[in-house]
Amino acid sequence: MSIAFRFVTSLLTVVLAGALTACASTPPATVTLYDRLGGAVTVQAIAARVIDGFATAPDGARAFDRVKLPRVKRGLGEFLCVLADGPCHYSGDDMKVVHAGLNISEREFNALVEHLRATLDALDVPQGAKNELLRRLAPMRRDIVSAAATAPPGDDG
Ligand code: HEM
Repeated sequence: MSIAFRFVTSLLTVVLAGALTACASTPPATVTLYDRLGGAVTVQAIAARVIDGFATAPDGARAFDRVKLPRVKRGLGEFLCVLADGPCHYSGDDMKVVHAGLNISEREFNALVEHLRATLDALDVPQGAKNELLRRLAPMRRDIVSAAATAPPGDDG
């Protein structure tokens, strides 16, 4: 084995070892769900489009009748941002308080989720981020759907 060959192989070993050490010691950048959704622009677009679409849809119009939509869009944008670990502050009340008295049914809740799903697809949100957002929203059903609206007819408790 020539001296030149040995020199080149040991040099390569040193360079490779250095590169691997550098990789191992670089902390992984924290990629939040908020980033994966597309950040501020996409999250605000999600909130605005869902409210615009749902407020005029057959299952959404009843609840949003006489509601100031810009305020709800802003609140939903903040809420989704915080839910996705984004750099925001949600200034509204919790989901139970916000939706109390609106008598929201399972059917209406499902319709909103369908609007959300379609909006995420329209905005080209990656599948993984979409599923993760829907997974984080799912437990809110119990705070948003009111018992009165889900009880079978004639069953008042
Ligand atoms: C996962 C599902 C849902 C989430 C995360 C959600 C979230 C929110 C948020 C963050 C607000 C704004 C609060 C604020 O003022 O800052 C809001 C308001 C509102 N939501 Fe929802 N919501 C959901 C489902 C629904 C459904 C299914 C309906 C109706 C069928 C509905 C009807 C309303 C109405 C009418 C308001 C305005 C209330 C008011 O201030 O007068 N929401 N929602």
